[in-house]
Amino acid sequence: MHFTDFDTETFLRDYWQKKPLLIRNPWAQWVNPLEPDELAGLACEDDVEARLVSHAEGALTAEDGPIPAERFGELSPDKWTLLVQAVDHFVPDVAALIEPFRFVPNWRIDDVMVSVAADGGGVGAHFDHYDVFLIQGLGRRRWQIGAMCDDSTPLLPHDQLRLIAGFEPLEEWVLEPGDILYVPPGIAHNGVAVGDNCMTYSVGFRAPSRAELIGDFCDDLLDAMSDDDRYGDPGLPQQDNPGEITGAALDGLHAMLLESLSDRAAFARWFGRYNSTPKYPEIDWRPEVPVSAAEIVSALASKVPLLRNPASRFSFIRQDGGAVLLFADGECFECRGETAELAELLCAQTAVLVVDKFIRSAPAVELITSLYNQGSLAFEADD
Ligand code: SIN
Ligand code: CO
Repeated sequence: MHFTDFDTETFLRDYWQKKPLLIRNPWAQWVNPLEPDELAGLACEDDVEARLVSHAEGALTAEDGPIPAERFGELSPDKWTLLVQAVDHFVPDVAALIEPFRFVPNWRIDDVMVSVAADGGGVGAHFDHYDVFLIQGLGRRRWQIGAMCDDSTPLLPHDQLRLIAGFEPLEEWVLEPGDILYVPPGIAHNGVAVGDNCMTYSVGFRAPSRAELIGDFCDDLLDAMSDDDRYGDPGLPQQDNPGEITGAALDGLHAMLLESLSDRAAFARWFGRYNSTPKYPEIDWRPEVPVSAAEIVSALASKVPLLRNPASRFSFIRQDGGAVLLFADGECFECRGETAELAELLCAQTAVLVVDKFIRSAPAVELITSLYNQGSLAFEADD
């Protein structure tokens, strides 16, 4: 699936993180990648995150998955919607929907949530903290767009849903199959199914909060800190008032903090690992018995492409001298020369046919073996 009618440069310059954009069917040929029944089947499974939102007596209620199969038989004919998270991790044709959006780097991509709704179904007016492309897959949905919101925007009292109080639409459109609505973070939006079998694919992005960056980086720094590493004041000057915490003392204390936080190399390693940590570790591609490098070589020699686990986030950070740090599933691999080239290839493509020069390189094979054994990669022929 690819776009024939979409200008990435204009989009990034004028819309990304700035304002909503309705993109009328930009695909070469739009094909809905999943049937409503298949989505309902996924929602019944234990390791899949799902939610059923329905209107009951004028109010929205949410039921968290797994949804018992018999529940679908009891639903009213209208005003419900079923939402399933990270469907791209399970369905390759849904994962393929991310490909046209790779103009945004891997580390910013979250996953694809899929919803199916009966006539009048929707999750109510809300805002998200992330960018999203809402792709209309099947059926029709009316989308309304409202004002920019933030954490001070009044919400309706609701235990499970963050619904905006007094939502006022500024614009609205009815989306047809293949149409896409881009919604930047914070913009209020409300989607209501027009007719049954309304399927929406949300290609969602992620951006760490400052609180998350500081909290999680500090936790990582703390793990490596010793109790001996302490403030000291040899040469303590006499002070007039023993009650004062002097500017000089404060400078020394503050410097201890900044020294640790400003270690950019440590931050880079931590961030790569942190960002690549899987959100759903249940999607486990690890082989039952770890394979050896020799087994990897013979599989590579038979020209079977390597596939990235769609739940694994691959990214790299360049180092001085052409080396790269490769990150996948919370692990960091230092790669040089040919192996660095291979690491970049693995980050650029979801499937890689490994050429002979890598098969002849022991460090490159070692990297593939490690990634295979930790479940980040598999061969296309593997089950
Ligand atoms: C939906 O698919 O109904 C909801 C998507 C969203 O608003 O984020
Ligand atoms: Co939303």
